[in-house]
Amino acid sequence: MNMLKQIIASRRYYGSSVQVAQKWVYAKAFQGEPNQHNFKLEKEDLPALKDGEFLAEAKYISVDPYMRPYMMAYPEGSLMIGGQVCKVLDSKNASFPVGASIFGQFGWRTHTVCNPSKQQSDKPYVLPDFGSLPTSLGLGVLGMPGNTAYFGLLEVCKPKKGETVVVSGAAGAVGSLVGQIAKIKGCRAVGIAGSDAKCQWLRNLGFDEAINYKTTSNIFADLKKAAPDGIDVYFDNVGGRTSEAAIKLMNLYGRIAVCGTISNYNTSIEKVTDPLRIMVFKQLKMEGFVVWRWNDRWLEGIMANLQWIQEGKLKWQETVTEGFENVPGAFMDMLKGGNTGKAVVKV
Ligand SMILES: NC(=O)c1ccc[n+]([C@@H]2O[C@H](COP(=O)([O-])OP(=O)(O)OC[C@H]3O[C@@H](n4cnc5c(N)ncnc54)[C@H](OP(=O)(O)O)[C@@H]3O)[C@@H](O)[C@H]2O)c1
Repeated sequence: MNMLKQIIASRRYYGSSVQVAQKWVYAKAFQGEPNQHNFKLEKEDLPALKDGEFLAEAKYISVDPYMRPYMMAYPEGSLMIGGQVCKVLDSKNASFPVGASIFGQFGWRTHTVCNPSKQQSDKPYVLPDFGSLPTSLGLGVLGMPGNTAYFGLLEVCKPKKGETVVVSGAAGAVGSLVGQIAKIKGCRAVGIAGSDAKCQWLRNLGFDEAINYKTTSNIFADLKKAAPDGIDVYFDNVGGRTSEAAIKLMNLYGRIAVCGTISNYNTSIEKVTDPLRIMVFKQLKMEGFVVWRWNDRWLEGIMANLQWIQEGKLKWQETVTEGFENVPGAFMDMLKGGNTGKAVVKV
């Protein structure tokens, strides 16, 4: 009887006709800017499904800045980490039925056999109903970056109506949302980004001012002009000289959210003025955060951002690269500023 059950199970599973997954592994430790030699494409046989498991096929794979520093903690040969939006192809888990669109922290791989109850953290979840919006948004505005902007700005910075919010990395997945949420909350929003086209896009989104940090000769002077009443909230995605200038312009009781320091992910840390003296006299609050802090409120952030999209208050953009073979290229391009909004790969 058991044998019969097993045969039926394995037939049903191989009925999906997917027996081998492709995956990108971290072949060589990063030094400086990532290049193609850091990655290797491999194949992996997939096991037959057991009770409690499901088989998922990647539809969109996320490429994010955090992968650059995080992978340094992994040995060479490890699977590249990351989130993906996938479709359930086969299932022995009633919570993940065939056909469901889900988010999973499955890494850079085409197919995954997963038993959610065996995962200590990073549990997969079925995406909420996005209506007519693409499921890829589950990697961006309706996923981790969206929640980073939502909780990072509202919980860490607590912006008040009329205050000035400055955000660096402003034309990216997180930054573009931070400025828009600041506007929704009645603040003045100033963005700092790496091209004139990105700055124009930020103004189109409703940012009051945008500064191109690559072409300015004096980021401090430009910021002072863009924030004539000083800065109440600085949402920092980049660190380094840009942050040095912003911190010097902070108002009394200003709040600084340290979300990321991408300016030093590929290089050594820039030497900047010690901000502690300013922090004392301006009585500033500076707080680093990681978005997983709000795991227990994950759906709240997604649904709030979804509602703002539906009300026309929050706009999103994606830079979509086609093809699983191009995941490393999309990652490297994103680190160089090739993306506007969220960088994703359509598998
Ligand atoms: N704390 C958390 O939980 C959390 C969660 C998500 C993201 N993050 C952090 O938030 C930041 C933004 O992430 P994201 O996912 O929204 O990525 P993203 O902004 O969509 O993409 C990265 C962008 O960083 C900019 N960049 C690259 N090198 C830079 C440099 N040397 N100086 C300044 N900007 C540079 C590029 O834009 P330009 O053309 O403007 O240079 C690039 O497009 C990153 O630091 C990331 O690590 C933190």
